[in-house]
Amino acid sequence: MTELVVRRLLIDLDQPVDRHWCGGDAFLTAWFNALSMSFPIGEQFFIDSVRAGFKALPPEQQAPLRDEVQGFVGQEATHRRIHGLFNAQIEKHGLTNHWEPRARRRLARMDGADVRHGVAITAANEHFTALFAEWMLAHPTLLDGCEPRLKTLWLWHSAEEAEHKSTAFDIYRALGGSHAWRLRWMRRVTVFFLGDALRQTVSNLRADGTLWRWSTWRSAARHLLGRDGLLRTSYAPWKRYFRRDFHPTQQHSDLSERWLEANAQVFVRVGSST
Ligand SMILES: [Fe+2]
Ligand SMILES: [Fe+2]
Repeated sequence: MTELVVRRLLIDLDQPVDRHWCGGDAFLTAWFNALSMSFPIGEQFFIDSVRAGFKALPPEQQAPLRDEVQGFVGQEATHRRIHGLFNAQIEKHGLTNHWEPRARRRLARMDGADVRHGVAITAANEHFTALFAEWMLAHPTLLDGCEPRLKTLWLWHSAEEAEHKSTAFDIYRALGGSHAWRLRWMRRVTVFFLGDALRQTVSNLRADGTLWRWSTWRSAARHLLGRDGLLRTSYAPWKRYFRRDFHPTQQHSDLSERWLEANAQVFVRVGSST
């Protein structure tokens, strides 16, 4: 079992956020803003799915997972609350969240479905967030020119995503979820996630008036497709999810542990799963 600490982040998100808060880079700002827009609805869905999956387990299988599920729910609930505050600030920049209503309509179709579907969708998304987290923690200089409280926000979220990356996967396995459905959901989640993230980023850039700037496209090419770019470096670990013997712990989380140790002054522990 993974020990999951719930932390309250000591940052103030009642203060306004700069329009190009990510070091003046319009593309990175729009990209991170897009991801943040998906968190409140997405993370609520992950909480509900993991809870429902846990409840569907027989008591003897629940016992060893109980504390970890509680920690997972606590961490995701904190993320969604803080990103809600961040989203309220970026809305003041004239951005419209199209991702959330689209996701809401899609998720409504899941009502009444076998709980394993929701858990498989969550496990696939958690693999994505774990890859993104690793990339962020490996390239903290990306956030060098941005306000310290926002740098802290993104690196803290990344560190906790790396910490709880196994929870949904382990529940799926405990529920006897099939390998075929796990892969099927990963393929679908990949299409939806990348499609939604890119559409929302373009929408944010359009609203910002920076969509057709050369510097925007140069930054997008460099940060997504360049040698150290997100999509390029994440392809191999993304593919590993399709292996029959895959488990999220095969991806190391040392960067997450190191960040949490080195930044203990920016949060307080409000609970722990052990
Ligand atoms: Fe999260
Ligand atoms: Fe997560």
